[in-house]
Formats: sequence, structure tokens, C-alpha cells
Amino acid sequence: MPQADAGPPPADQIPDVPLLKALGDRRSIRYFDADRRVEPWKIETMLQAARFASCQGNINCTEAILVDKETCEVWDELEECVSGFNVQIINQASHLIIWLTNLNAWYGRAVDGISTVSLAGATTKYHGWNYEFSMTQTIPRLMSFPPERTENLLRFETGQAVAQAMAAGVSLGLGNILIAFGRKPGGVEKAFGLPPHYRFTWGHAVGYPLENPNAGGQRPRLKFERLFHDNAFGTPLQSNPATVEMLREKGLIQEQAPLEGRIEEIVDIAERHGRDPGMLFFPAREIRRLMNDPDWDLGPRIRAYAEHVLQTEDLPDYPDEMRATFQRLMEEHGIDASKFLPDEG
Ligand SMILES: Cc1cc2nc3c(=O)[nH]c(=O)nc-3n(C[C@H](O)[C@H](O)[C@H](O)COP(=O)(O)O)c2cc1C
Repeated sequence: MPQADAGPPPADQIPDVPLLKALGDRRSIRYFDADRRVEPWKIETMLQAARFASCQGNINCTEAILVDKETCEVWDELEECVSGFNVQIINQASHLIIWLTNLNAWYGRAVDGISTVSLAGATTKYHGWNYEFSMTQTIPRLMSFPPERTENLLRFETGQAVAQAMAAGVSLGLGNILIAFGRKPGGVEKAFGLPPHYRFTWGHAVGYPLENPNAGGQRPRLKFERLFHDNAFGTPLQSNPATVEMLREKGLIQEQAPLEGRIEEIVDIAERHGRDPGMLFFPAREIRRLMNDPDWDLGPRIRAYAEHVLQTEDLPDYPDEMRATFQRLMEEHGIDASKFLPDEG
């Protein structure tokens, strides 16, 4: 029976999670408690957070369909579209959010969008805004963008909205993951009968985590200096150890995965659900290469686990039939494939 919407508790009973902590707590959650439904007020909070994300010219191009598998008439069609490794996830999650990008917002809402921010006291003559110039130059120029260019701009904007929704969800104790629907291109658009100027941008599963909400620690990233450039491309922007220390205290930077007990935890979840408890492993050569790659920020836990895997697991060989395809694909992108490929024979 559908639950009655009890509405939110009083605001002062909802714990306040500082933003840096909420951002640090976020993980892609892949194991959801199928027996717990997310309260409508929490979903609405996430969507409200998306609604107030920054958006170009206030055109509001990001929309979403909230999908409840119990009541959505096109659930079976959606399930056929989702990539195979996401099927379990959407079936255990409480809700699915289908994020959409409305390309016509760019063309149809440019005037009203800018008018609203002017009336709101945001855009002013101080910065050179002027009605006649806007109407005869700026807005017609923006509106003459081809849809492909508009699409690039607006999909970025949808990403902004989704990130805010996720952060809000995390702050309310929810788990989130973005999931690909690559199995049936165009299938989601068809299932919902989307008008041609709408793009399905991404799927987003939401629910209460079945796994520990810390998901076994923060997932590794490339080093800060490898990602950010100082005034010139290729000049690394240096991270300050004192800032990193402060961010650890604030919870933005957290202990790297895999935390103690993580592997046992997911093996146990798999066994309880009658699923294969095995992990995805790469060949020994690939693991060693990765551990020696100076670009990655790999801490002691992941290094120790890699060592353990190298010593105890029956690791796969490189699939030789992939060699030529892999080499061609890397060449097409101008990337030297040699470090990724084992010696022939
Ligand atoms: C646009 C986007 C699409 C993603 N699609 C999938 C997906 O289809 N399946 C999945 O398991 N994870 C997916 N992820 C999650 C990433 O794998 C994950 O963010 C990444 O491994 C880093 O882990 P973290 O999010 O826990 O920090 C996606 C993430 C993004 C941003």
C-alpha cells in the first residue's frame, strides 16, 4: 500500500550537515536497502536544490521525471535501457530521477530569463547591461546558436543541478548514484514520449544505503597537481598541506578506501542476496603499473589491498584479442598505448 506522505519534520529536528562535510560524505552508493523508501520531502528537497542551481540567463533548462518503480507504467521499458551493471541498483533503490535538459529553454526563455534577473536586482547597467543592446545583439546572437552548441552548454548546466541535488540528498542521509542507460540508445526518450527538443541527460538512483554510507572510504582520484593548473596550462597548481589538513578536519577529505572490513562487507551483502560475491580484478601487470603511476593519489590502504590481491588472487590475463582494437582506439585519440599493453607473446 502506498505510504501516506507525512510531510517533513519540523526544520529544527533535521540535522544540519555542513556543506564541506556533505561533499566529503558523498560516494556513489551501489547497494541500497530495498525495504526503505525515501520520504517525499527528502526527494523534494533534492529537486529544490537542483532548481536553485546556477543556470545561464536564468533559463531553467533542467527538468526531471521522478520515477517510483511501484507505480511507474514504463518501468519495464526503463529497466531494459539501463546498462547491465546497473539493473540491480535501480531495483534496490527507492527512486530513480531521470534528469532532462530542455534545449528550447535556450531559445524560448532567453528574454524572460534575463528579464527576471533584472527585476530581481541582479543584472544592471553597472555591468553594461542595456535593454536595446540585449534585444538587438546579445539575445539574437545567443538564440542563433545551433542546437549542438546549445546542447553542450545546457548539459553542463544540468550537471550543476544534479550535483546540488546529490549534495542535498547526502546531507539528509540518502545514498545517490548516477547510472548509465546505454543498453538501448533513445529508449528512455521513447518510453516517456519526450518531445524532440528534450535530452535525457542522466539517470540517478536514490535510496537509503544498505552498505555503510561511507561505502568503505573515499574513492581515489588523480593528484591535485595533476588536475589543476597555475596561470598556464601545464604548470601544476600546488596543493597546500595545511589546507589539506584543514579539509580533513572539516570532512571534505576523508580516509581513502578500502577501509577495514569493506571487502568482507560487500562479500556478505552479495551472499545475502544470492549474488556472486567475487570482485572485479585486472591483470597483475595492470595493477603494478597503476600502483607505480605518479599521477594517481593512492594511499596506503589501496596499496596494501593491491598487494594482497597480487599475492592471493588468481588474476586474469590480458585478453589478446583486445590488443589491436585497443591500440587503434588509443591511436585515434593520439594516446601512446604502449604502457597499457603487455609485451606480445
Ligand atoms: C556522469 C556519471 C555517470 C556514471 N555512471 C555510472 C554507472 O552507470 N554505473 C556505476 O556503477 N557508476 C556510475 N558512475 C559513478 C562513478 O563510477 C563514480 O562517481 C566514480 O567511480 C567515483 O566514485 P565516487 O562517486 O564514489 O567518488 C557515474 C558517475 C558519473 C559522474
